[in-house]
Amino acid sequence: MSLFRTKSIETLLAQAEESDKGLKRSLNAGNLIALGIGAIIGAGLFVRTAAAAGEHAGPAVTISFIIAAIGCAFAGLCYAEFASMIPIAGSAYTYAYATMGELVAWVIGWALILEYALGAATVAISWSEYLNKLVGNTIPYEWCHSPFESKVIDGIVHSGIMNIPALFILFLLSILLIKGTQESAKVNMVIVIIKVAIVLVFIAIGWSFINPANHTPFFIPADALPAKNPDGSEYTYTDFFRHGWGGVLTGAGIVFFAFIGFDAVSTTAQEAKNPKKDMPIGILGSLVICTILYILFSYVLTGVAPYTDFVSTGKEASVAYAIHTYMTGYEWLAKLVSFAILLGFSSVILVMLMGQSRVFYTMSTDGLLPKIFSDLHPKFRTPYKSNIVLFVFVGLFAAFIPVNVAGDLTSIGTLFAFVLVCLGIIILRKKDPNLNRPFKVPLVPLVPILGILVCTAMIISLPEETLVSALIWMVLGLVIYFSFSKRNSRLNNNNSH
Ligand code: ALA
Repeated sequence: MSLFRTKSIETLLAQAEESDKGLKRSLNAGNLIALGIGAIIGAGLFVRTAAAAGEHAGPAVTISFIIAAIGCAFAGLCYAEFASMIPIAGSAYTYAYATMGELVAWVIGWALILEYALGAATVAISWSEYLNKLVGNTIPYEWCHSPFESKVIDGIVHSGIMNIPALFILFLLSILLIKGTQESAKVNMVIVIIKVAIVLVFIAIGWSFINPANHTPFFIPADALPAKNPDGSEYTYTDFFRHGWGGVLTGAGIVFFAFIGFDAVSTTAQEAKNPKKDMPIGILGSLVICTILYILFSYVLTGVAPYTDFVSTGKEASVAYAIHTYMTGYEWLAKLVSFAILLGFSSVILVMLMGQSRVFYTMSTDGLLPKIFSDLHPKFRTPYKSNIVLFVFVGLFAAFIPVNVAGDLTSIGTLFAFVLVCLGIIILRKKDPNLNRPFKVPLVPLVPILGILVCTAMIISLPEETLVSALIWMVLGLVIYFSFSKRNSRLNNNNSH
């Protein structure tokens, strides 16, 4: 019984055919693009743009976005080839099973939990913060923070008990997911239309408030005057990673988070009406649209306000701050943007939860996870038990854990999956060159190799604590694999290669 046994493409395709009895094929190309945009535009754009500009890249954060987008495009092309060829729900996990074997597939499935489940928890916590801001901080501190957080308000120490708004949004979206994929896709579509419209309005109105002096020089110079931290201390730019190209590259690592999510489209391959054609459209279409919006948005934001402002004003409030301070007469726009952010976060959580349940679904049908994760609702044909377990798991996390622990772990899980998907393309082209590939990555192996290099570079640039936490998570995953999954794998009873 080999750890590297693979699931044959024939078995996978037969499983896709069988899927008429399983998940319902209800998504068209428009839905898929919207799901991608739904998962992509969120905290990365609205919070991290200002952080990357203020602390590392200055106005050249626009170039940071372009670099991160190029890295994602290499991986995105590889995802598109796989998703059109193997229209099964598991995304990177499934592709690894077909190319690198069961152990690697398990490892990647386990890493995807960092991306989707942890990503959903992180964004749910940010959602709660924004809601509180929008209602004028009227939610008691205790009920919108984890027990690990405390703050002195009016001389009294307040400690968090539980993050109720985070639980609330997770609950609401989990119910929606149980109710139906098509219903979820419809709600997502409405959210996406509103949030993209508000982003476009900000770009259009903000354009006329661009002060060319804020864009000159475009790169932060090594001798730039220090900015002020929120506590009044100085934030200097002399460090290599805080000016020039060094700063732009660090900025790319920070804004990479803003692109996470286009791959979630591939987790729904089993629910697409015409996956061969529509999967590449959904994955690459959402990536291209968001890249254009990001470049324009960051250009306007850094043109409206000097980048040094973003060090002192706090990143969360960055867009509203820029409007209030520099766009007189447009205060209503600040409210609209806050609304867009709340909506934006909701669709990110929705698609992340959906992606996670679909990866679990496939891992469970393969026997690597208990059967409960692939039980479908008799009427809605959604993996409802999985949605309920996930709500509890992600909810516990969001209710009791502080947000800063989770953000970079989400990026590492995603980048790891990207590297293996790129590698998988090279392996499968060699192993099975004649397979029907409705969409083909150009210039193989160059494009996947560049994808591997860029994503590995971004992994290495993450903080050391993140790398250590990810390693601990992986060891835990291996313990579960060897104690449960390996013995229960469906390949034990079928032919394996
Ligand atoms: N890309 C998603 C966001 O920016 C995760 O929130």
